[in-house]
This record gives sequence, structure tokens and C-alpha cells, in this order.
Amino acid sequence: MDIQKVGVMGCGLMGSGIAEVCARSGYDVVVREINSDLLGKGIEMIEASTETAVRKGKGTEEDRKVTLSHIKGTTNMNDFNKCDLVIEAISEDIDEKRKVFSALDEICPPHAILASNTSSLSIIDLAAVTKRPENVIGLHFFRPAPVMKLLELVRTIATSDEVIETARKFGQSIGKVTATCRDTPGFIVNRLLVPYLLIAIRALETGLASKEDIDQAVTLGLNYPMGPFVLADFIGLDILYNTSMGIYEELRDPVYFPPVLLKKMVVAGHMGRKTGQGFYKYSK
Ligand code: 3HC
Repeated sequence: MDIQKVGVMGCGLMGSGIAEVCARSGYDVVVREINSDLLGKGIEMIEASTETAVRKGKGTEEDRKVTLSHIKGTTNMNDFNKCDLVIEAISEDIDEKRKVFSALDEICPPHAILASNTSSLSIIDLAAVTKRPENVIGLHFFRPAPVMKLLELVRTIATSDEVIETARKFGQSIGKVTATCRDTPGFIVNRLLVPYLLIAIRALETGLASKEDIDQAVTLGLNYPMGPFVLADFIGLDILYNTSMGIYEELRDPVYFPPVLLKKMVVAGHMGRKTGQGFYKYSK
């Protein structure tokens, strides 16, 4: 199948990045938010990110204008009615996601692929509310979506071979390298990343070392671009909490159970970079 028009449901941190990546590769993109205020903020993020791309030499001002011209913002889900692929990137709430998939199934053309960018929720749970489970897949992008090379393709027991192949070609066409995995909690990357981050938080709780020393040890000793606390703040502590809890609820493996400190920080509203306070403080 030939994908020409892409829908992105949600224009937050991930949705805006996904819309940008697709638009800069020449796809016509419809991105939808629930109200014009959130849509305006999402479009501002795309404008800022495309400005950064030009500043970093990843294209010209003309390329930026072309990318932006491929993006249409909307608050109306019916605008997905001509999309060949819709990527859902709303918050990690399975009931909300089910409602979205049910609505997309009604609105989108019969051939359209419906994808979720969920970090850890079950894709078959979403496929099950549609009349096209063979056309439902996970497309898991990484933060920052315009920069990170990987795209996880998540295949359920119902996803067709043709849809996997179309998704693989689509991933390539937007400059990503794909890794295919089964519809299992956390897929590949979060299955490995979450225990590492939670162990770092537990190590801090038990006084192994300061967060600064743990971050520095990992950055310099392992050559990782970010230490665990800088990375957790970057991902968002609420997202880390929800992702780890989502995997724990499926696997019941205590290694995925969020530490008390993480829960307290989320309850306090210390969600990381996006709120200006996480393990570290950030100026706006
Ligand atoms: N558009 C296009 N390219 C951009 C860009 C933009 N808006 N912003 C930066 N770039 C490019 C730069 O030009 C540069 O390219 P080059 O390597 O070819 O020169 C590259 O991206 C790196 O940019 P910078 O040099 O400005 O920044 P840093 O070197 O400080 O790297 C970082 C920033 C890429 C965020 C790096 O710190 C990093 O990789 N951190 C780890 C991020 C990570 O692990 N993400 C995954 C999180 S887990 C997740 O998302 C899963 C979820 O389910 C929880």
C-alpha cells in the first residue's frame, strides 16, 4: 500500500515531533489536538524544532517552510477521513486510547493503518475495538522524535504481513531504522531501559551516591549521552512512572515496580524538564 497522507492524533511532545518527521519527508500531515489552545502550543513546538534544525545545519529556511506547509492542524477528528495512516500519540490512558481507536475506525478509509505510539500498552487491546485488527500496529518513536533514529514496529497476533511491510517501508521513508517486535509489555527498548532507570532511582534512595555522581559515572564510564537522572527528567517522570507501572501490571515482575521516590515526585508535580523541576531544576 502507498502511504501519502498521515494523521497524527495528539500534538504534545511526541505527536508534534512525529508530525514534523513525517512532514519533512514530504508526507501531507493532519495533526489533531482536543482544543485550539493545545493545538497552538503543539504547532509552536514544531516551529521551534524546525528552527533548531535549520540552526544545526539540518536543512535550509526554504526546507523549513516546505515542511511547515505540509502540516495542517485541526481540532476535528473527521479531518482524518482521507489518511492512509494515523498515528495516535495521546497520553498513556488505555480507556482514552480505546475510544480514539474506535472513532478512528469509523472515520478513516477501510485501507488505512491505525498505529499507536504507546510506550508500553498492549496494541491488541486497541486493535480489538476496531473492525480492522489486521491493520493495527504499534509505531513507537523515541524522544526527541526528529533526532532519534529508531522506530519500533510492534506486531500483534492479528497484524498482517502486508501491514508490517508497509510500516517498515514507511519507517525507512522518514529516515528511521526499524526494529520489529512482538506486542509485549515495554516492547524492546522500554523493557530494558525501565529497570535501568528504576535501579538508578533505588540506588539514590539507598544512598549509593549522589545523583550527580551516578549521572557522571554513567556518562563517562559507559559513554551514554545522558546519565539516568538527566534522562528520566528528559523523558518525564510521569511518563516513566506510567510506563513502569504499565509493564509491571502485565508482567508482575518487581523490577518494573516504580520506587516510592518516583511516585512522590510525580504526586508533587515534579515531572522533569517539562515542569522545570525533576531530579534537577530547569529554567524555562
Ligand atoms: N531537528 C533535526 N535534527 C536535530 C534537531 C532538530 N530539531 N535538534 C538536534 N538535531 C541534531 C543535531 O544536528 C545533531 O546532529 P549530528 O549528530 O548529525 O550533528 C544531533 O541531532 C544531536 O543534537 P545536539 O548536538 O544539539 O544535541 P546533543 O548532542 O546534546 O544530543 C540528544 C541531544 C540527542 C537528546 C542526546 O542527549 C541523546 O541522545 N540523549 C538520549 C535521548 C534518549 O535516550 N532518548 C530516548 C528516551 S526513551 C523514549 O523516548 C521512549 C519512551 O517510550 C519513554
